[in-house]
Amino acid sequence: MILLTGATRGIGKFLFEKFISLGEDVIGTYHNTFPENDIDRFIKIDLADYDSLKNMINKIQYKLKNVVLINCAGNNYNSFAHKSNIEKWEEVININLIGTFRLINLLLPIMREQNYGRIINFASIVAQKGVPGTSAYAASKSGLWGLTKAIAVENANKGITINNLNLGYFNIGMITEVPENFLKQVINSIPKAELGNPDNIFNVVKFLIESDYITGTSIDINGGLF
Ligand SMILES: NC(=O)c1ccc[n+]([C@@H]2O[C@H](COP(=O)([O-])OP(=O)(O)OC[C@H]3O[C@@H](n4cnc5c(N)ncnc54)[C@H](OP(=O)(O)O)[C@@H]3O)[C@@H](O)[C@H]2O)c1
Repeated sequence: MILLTGATRGIGKFLFEKFISLGEDVIGTYHNTFPENDIDRFIKIDLADYDSLKNMINKIQYKLKNVVLINCAGNNYNSFAHKSNIEKWEEVININLIGTFRLINLLLPIMREQNYGRIINFASIVAQKGVPGTSAYAASKSGLWGLTKAIAVENANKGITINNLNLGYFNIGMITEVPENFLKQVINSIPKAELGNPDNIFNVVKFLIESDYITGTSIDINGGLF
């Protein structure tokens, strides 16, 4: 089964619908964006709240066979470091990095017992490039790289793989909410000269689910932008 976070909006919603169309057994999570339909397939969580995650795992315990955990949910806070509000900065780390770890921490024992698991985390080109105003977001996403390597080594002989997707800029989700001028600049900087189509993300997710010898690494999906 697939457990997909952030499944009612943006990239997560796109992936959720793709997997459903293939007849996969998917549970999606949401936080503030209520599902438009298929309500039975969704659970409300807050990645900042370990107990809400534990409750979800307990609720779906009977479904947890051959688990694929897709950690798509994430948040963002744009501010130059010297002007940043420390609470908002910490919240990004708390959701993107620690929230991702909270779920991994809860599911790893089940994966280890079953000798199978796939964990796919969503990182970002922003962590590779150095983009002004993104210190919290970049720190949260680059933190996933180290976490992934350690967890990969700990679990490689247990049928479990863990990898990251380093996404460039896509035509769906959070990047579409930025001011038009900035978006134009972004597109001009991409060698492929366009925002990415999320089918590319879906294809790589599927590839990672099907692969048992790729672990502890990251795949760049960015239209040639480095
Ligand atoms: N779009 C891009 O071009 C791009 C580029 C690089 C990386 N990424 C990464 O790709 C992933 C998806 O991005 P997106 O653009 O689709 O983002 P998005 O449209 O902003 O959606 C963010 C998702 O995260 C969920 N979320 C936020 N806070 C949460 C919390 N405390 N607990 C549980 N869920 C929470 C939201 O749930 P609710 O709406 O229900 O609150 C929403 O589903 C993110 O990790 C993002 O960093 C995206």
